[in-house]
Amino acid sequence: MRKLFQNLSRRKSATALLADYERDGNIHGTDLVRTLRLKDLVSFGIAAIIGAGIFSTIGNASAAGGPGVSLLFIFTAIACGFSALCYAQFASTIPVSGSAYTYAYASFGELVAWIIGWDLLMEYAIGNIAVAISWSDYFTAVLQGVGLGIPEYLTMDFLSASRGYDAALKLLAQGQTMSQLPGNMQEAFLAWQQAPSIGGIKLVADVPALGITVLITYLVYIGIKESKRTANFLVLLKLLVILLVITVGALYVSPTNWTPFAPNGLAGIMKGVSAVFFAYIGFDAISTTAEECENPQRDLPRAMIFALVICTVLYVILALILTGMVPFQELAVGDPLAYVFSRVNLDVIAGIVAVSAIVAMASVLLVFQYGQPRIWMTMSRDGLLPGIFSRIHPKYRTPSFATLVTGFVVAVPALFMNLTEVTDLTSIGTLFAFVLVCGGILLLEEKQKVATAAHKGFRVPYINGKYTLPLLVLLGAVLLFVYNRPELSAFFSLEGGWGAIQHKLPMLGFLLVTTVLTVLTVTRNLSLIPVLGLLTNLYLMTELGITNWSRFLAWLMLGLIIYFAYGYRNSKLHKPEATATIHAP
Ligand code: ALA
Repeated sequence: MRKLFQNLSRRKSATALLADYERDGNIHGTDLVRTLRLKDLVSFGIAAIIGAGIFSTIGNASAAGGPGVSLLFIFTAIACGFSALCYAQFASTIPVSGSAYTYAYASFGELVAWIIGWDLLMEYAIGNIAVAISWSDYFTAVLQGVGLGIPEYLTMDFLSASRGYDAALKLLAQGQTMSQLPGNMQEAFLAWQQAPSIGGIKLVADVPALGITVLITYLVYIGIKESKRTANFLVLLKLLVILLVITVGALYVSPTNWTPFAPNGLAGIMKGVSAVFFAYIGFDAISTTAEECENPQRDLPRAMIFALVICTVLYVILALILTGMVPFQELAVGDPLAYVFSRVNLDVIAGIVAVSAIVAMASVLLVFQYGQPRIWMTMSRDGLLPGIFSRIHPKYRTPSFATLVTGFVVAVPALFMNLTEVTDLTSIGTLFAFVLVCGGILLLEEKQKVATAAHKGFRVPYINGKYTLPLLVLLGAVLLFVYNRPELSAFFSLEGGWGAIQHKLPMLGFLLVTTVLTVLTVTRNLSLIPVLGLLTNLYLMTELGITNWSRFLAWLMLGLIIYFAYGYRNSKLHKPEATATIHAP
C-alpha cells in the first residue's frame, strides 16, 4: 500500500523535466524549431481566446444576466488572471511542452499529473468540438445569406434536431404555425423531417464542423511556420472586426437599456458562468508552445498576461455595447454580434461580423488543435501514453501521430454532439485544471522546490495571505448576509431531501475548501495570489450544477481506469532504467 502511494506520487523535479527534454531533443535530433517571439505568443493567445465565446455564447449569458453580465466578465477575468500568474511561473520554470500536465508532474506527482493531462483533453479537444459546432452555425448562416444553403440535416447535431423536432411538434399541435416558431426550432424541424434514414435511424450530422476540423488539422500537421503565419493573420483580422463592432455599436447604444443593470439578480448573472468562462479559455494554451519559443522564460509569462488583459478590456466593452444596443432579452441568439447590427438595420456590418466570426473561430480551432498533440507528446515521453504519441514527423517536425489522433477525436464527435453540453464540459474541465495549477504553485512554494531552477524566471509576487484572506472571506460572508439573505437561508435549510441536497454538494465542498485553506493561510503564511486563484476558480466550478459535476467525475473515473491499465506500469519513473529524478514524498 505504501509502495502504491509512493508510485502514485512519484514526481519529476523541474531539473529532471528539463534534462529529459534536452536528452530526448538533442540525442535523437527531434527538437521542435524555436521560432516563436513575444508578439507571436500574444497573437497565439488571442487566437485561442477570442472565438465562439464572444461571438456566440455571450448571447445567452447576456439574455440571462442583462448588462450585469459585464461584471461576470470582470470577475472571471480576475480568476483567470490569478491562474495566468501561476501558469506563468510554471511555464517559465519548466519551459517544456505539456502545460498544466507538466506542472502537476513537478508539484503533485504522477497520479495528479495524469488526471490533469486527461482533464486537459476536455479543455482542448472537447472545447474544440464546441468551437467547431459554433463555426458551423455561422458558416451555414453566411452560406444561406448568399443563397448557397445546405440541407438542414447536414448542418446540425442529432440531439438538437430530434429535441427541436419534438418541441416544434408540440407547439404546432397547440395551434401555432410554422412561421411563429423560433428560427432554431424551424431548422431542427426541417432537419429531422428531411433527413434520410437507415434502419430507422435518422442521418443528421454537422458536416461543416467535420470539414473545418479536417482542414485545421492539416494546417497543424504541416507545421508551426504555416500555422503561425495563419494565426497572426487571423488574429489581426479578428481584432479589427471587434474594434469595428465596438466603435460603430457605441453610436447605437441607448443607455436606458442598461437599467436595471442586473434584471435577474445575481442568480441571472451567474447563469452565464459557463459561457463567459468559455470565452476566456485559451491564454493557458500559450504555455504549450514552450519548446518552440525563442525565450520562454521571459516571453511566456508576459504573453499570457498581455493576452488576458487585451481580451478582458474588449469583452467588458463588448458586453456593455451589446446590452446597450438592444433590450437584453433579445440577445438569446446564436449570433448576437451580427444580430444587434441587423436590429439597427446595418446589414452590411452584420454581414462583416458574421464572416469575421467564421475567421475568429477558425483561429481558435487552430490553437487548440496545435496544443492537444503537444500535451500528448509530453505524456508519451513520460511513458504514460504509447511512444507513437511523441513521434516527430521527419519533414514537418510536428508530433504527427498525435496531431492526427486529435483531428479524429474532435472531428467525429463534432458531427453529432450538442453545443451546450460540450461547452459546459469544457468549462468545468478547464476550471479544474486552473484549480490544480494554482494548488501546484502553493505546493511548490511551500516546498521551495523551484528555488534554483526559477532563478531567472518569473515568480508569482508573494503577498502574505495571513490577514487579507480571512478579511476577504469575512467580507464575502457579510455581503451575502446583507444582500442575499433569502438564498442563504434556502441553502442552509434541509427541506427537499436528497434531491435538494445533492445540488448543494459542490457549494458545500467549496465552503469546506475555503475554511481549510483559510486556516492553512493563517497558520502557514500562504501566498495570497495562488490561494485566491484556487478559490475563485473553484467557486466558478460550483456554479456549473450537479449534472456537469457528475459527468466530469465520470470522465475522471474513465481516465483513472486507463492510467492503471497502461500509464502506471509504463511510466518512465516506474522503470529501473529511468533517468529522471524521482521524488517520493
Ligand atoms: N475562448 C475560446 C472561444 O471562445 C475557447 O472560442
